[in-house]
Amino acid sequence: MNHSTTCQITLAPLGRVLTVPRGSNLGDAIHELGLEFPCGGKGICGNCKVRLLAGHIALDPLHEAVLKRKKLGPEWRLACLSRVDEDITIEVAQFENIVLADETPFQFTPRAQCGIAVDLGSTTLVSQLLDMESGQVLSVQTALNPQAVYGADIMSRISYALQSPEQAERLTSLIRHTVGAQVEELAAQATRPIGRVRIVGNTVMHHLFCGLDVTPLATYPFESPHNGMVHFTPADLGWQIDASIDITFLPNIGSFVGSDILAGIYAAGMFSSSSPRVLVDLGTNGEIAVGNRDGIACASTAAGPAFEGSNISCGMRASTGAISSITLKEGHHECHVIGSVPAKGICGSGLIDAIYLGVTQGEIDEQGVIRHEPKILPLTDKVHLEQQDIREFQLAKAAVATGVELLLHEQHLTHAEIDKMFIAGGFGNYINLEHATSLGLLEFAPSQIVKLSNSALIGAKMFLFQDDEFINQLVPRTRHISLESNPAFLDTFCQKILFTTH
Ligand code: FES
Repeated sequence: MNHSTTCQITLAPLGRVLTVPRGSNLGDAIHELGLEFPCGGKGICGNCKVRLLAGHIALDPLHEAVLKRKKLGPEWRLACLSRVDEDITIEVAQFENIVLADETPFQFTPRAQCGIAVDLGSTTLVSQLLDMESGQVLSVQTALNPQAVYGADIMSRISYALQSPEQAERLTSLIRHTVGAQVEELAAQATRPIGRVRIVGNTVMHHLFCGLDVTPLATYPFESPHNGMVHFTPADLGWQIDASIDITFLPNIGSFVGSDILAGIYAAGMFSSSSPRVLVDLGTNGEIAVGNRDGIACASTAAGPAFEGSNISCGMRASTGAISSITLKEGHHECHVIGSVPAKGICGSGLIDAIYLGVTQGEIDEQGVIRHEPKILPLTDKVHLEQQDIREFQLAKAAVATGVELLLHEQHLTHAEIDKMFIAGGFGNYINLEHATSLGLLEFAPSQIVKLSNSALIGAKMFLFQDDEFINQLVPRTRHISLESNPAFLDTFCQKILFTTH
């Protein structure tokens, strides 16, 4: 018997091997590959299904019942309900074709080519190699954004870049080099010629990758004259791939709303839907889009990076060691930790649960003040929340709720008229919708909300099948709204900062 404390997960046909602590949740282990967990990993939707090709994953009665209800045979498992207790080989069903979060299959015209989609985030990069004939993901690459050593968030990257042309150039060459390494690795595994590489990211990532001046993004109204699509040849970037491959960074919508949101809007079906929809992407900024095929209003909010765990005393991003959810059991906090290891910190979804429990248990008042001394809420031996953490959360949730309300008003809509509200962003996988709605972060009924974890990557893959003209004509169908200049902003913000749980 193997007594190793780790297990290996081999991903077929990608050939990728992940090493994880024995007993890890399979969904946690593979979420960084750009997978969606539409029901939040509760074993309801069946969308995280994997085919078990080698090894054993034990079934409990709940897991067995869901597989039966979903009419999945004995070779299938749901990643969110699976524990990794030995070496396994799996095939991820989501990588077999492109499917939208609302389960509408994406209609694409097959091409005898491969394509590469890149989601260039401020924190992480995910690239996928797609067989454009079958729609199947053939390989995945993930990495942390190496620019992070020069600043955790986009504002600090801008200020670093503004200090000297050499520093700006350093950020550009770092990111080009890292994305290039991923693309070269993927290109080497392509089974057909690669036609194009489509890259999406926020406005700052767009400017830094493309070598554009970030000065306009540093001062009001934060509008750059260079928001368009930018083409490169491999030679322009020094990438060792076939010279005929077209590399495109897709266009921004405006200000801090980049092509990642354009891709998200496309993935959420908002350009074709007749009924109104909302997309909220809670990354380093909070980006919001409201509308339908007749027009979409977009804005970025100064939500700050609280949802990514930054500026929180024990905060961290949603990775191994992060408390991702908390429930109350017999008066005690029961923390779920990503990767089933001792808790090192807390990520955005855990923060929501901790504050929800603090408010509903009467430890935090309506103003957000911890009622007792010392003003600390312990969660585990090592992880706790401080008064300032509650403040950070209040500022972030008020910014998001205010942004949604003002954009709804702009579009002459109410919350109740929204057909679907898509929540995107890394922590969307884990967020407890009842807690988020109850705290006033998302003021929609949980039944209106759809989780669309990496909407940017899904949209980038869909854009591989579309020509430049099609993508460029989407941009004027969106309009960027400056929230801060709206006279109702301050009053709405002050109202949304309070906790009024129901
Ligand atoms: S069943 Fe696993 S994410 Fe929904």
